[in-house]
Amino acid sequence: MSTPETPKSLILLEAIPDGGFAEVEAEVEGSAESLILYREGHAVRAWLNVCPHAGRRLDWAPGQFLKTGDGLLVCAAHGASFELARGECVAGPCRGESLRAVAVRVVDGEVRQDVSAG
Ligand code: FES
Repeated sequence: MSTPETPKSLILLEAIPDGGFAEVEAEVEGSAESLILYREGHAVRAWLNVCPHAGRRLDWAPGQFLKTGDGLLVCAAHGASFELARGECVAGPCRGESLRAVAVRVVDGEVRQDVSAG
């Protein structure tokens, strides 16, 4: 229904707290997926909401993610901790593995899926 080059709007930037998270549904490579969005000022990073440890969602309730005082995202299932620059697990059962990044960009105050980046 949408052309491959059309960036898909996922959420308004202002709907994500600065330094916080949101969860959205998006189509990634033809499959409906849950995404973790993390906002830092005007920048947003996104990953599949799938933990590399056992494949569970990381949120404890839809859109509710745990963040430590020193800025790590913690999987609610078994406590794997991920740094938020690259989504790499730095502590816990999947240390050294990473969340799978999804390309997004902020345009006109909207977070859009960057489908051109594949
Ligand atoms: S599924 Fe995330 S730590 Fe086990």
